Amino acid sequence: MIKIVTLVAMAGIASFAVDLKSVIETPEAKQIIQKDLLGPAKTFTMPAGCITTDAEAIARGKFIFHNLNGKKAKGPFPKGLAKKNAKGKAKQYGNCVACHNIEGAKGGGNIGPDLSNYKKHFIDTKVRNSAWVYQKIADARIDNANTHMTINLTTGLFSKKEVCELTSYIVSKKK
Ligand code: HEC
Repeated sequence: MIKIVTLVAMAGIASFAVDLKSVIETPEAKQIIQKDLLGPAKTFTMPAGCITTDAEAIARGKFIFHNLNGKKAKGPFPKGLAKKNAKGKAKQYGNCVACHNIEGAKGGGNIGPDLSNYKKHFIDTKVRNSAWVYQKIADARIDNANTHMTINLTTGLFSKKEVCELTSYIVSKKK
């Protein structure tokens, strides 16, 4: 009799233990992290006609460079730039000034290189060309796997057109 009770009790514990296992979540942290990673750096070919001297396009690039998002952005909005994203929320901009100084920057950061006089120092000297700048903005990991810079095209944060406008702004001659 005692034997049977013990057996039943043991079976009970065993099934309980099995139940517990199925209830307790054991998330695979590695898999979750892997899912959120961007994968290897992506290379992009600069689209034809990407670099423009069109003042409106450059104004959009400038606005994206100097502002954080459509809610906090100050000053007149450049023509053709959305204030909100497809979900109706404030559109995210580049906030590039957080890390880079450039002409007219208010409190430009120094985590990244100073982009002032970029045309004179980098483009005219052929140290860089527009296609390289386009790629750097599109996926900054291309020349530095551990970059602190934002990844803009691979993540879909910006469109090709917007990366072109940012590039056009950086390589343009400024006052
Ligand atoms: C969190 C800091 C950070 C932000 C934000 C950032 N950058 Fe950078 N950027 C860097 C760093 C650091 C480098 C130097 C290279 C590297 O480590 O990737 C760099 C390099 C660059 C270069 C290459 C300069 C050269 O010729 O060597 C360009 C162009 C550039 N950034 C443009 C941008 C634009 C445009 C934005 C906004 C969309 C931006 N960056 C936002 C940190 C940043």
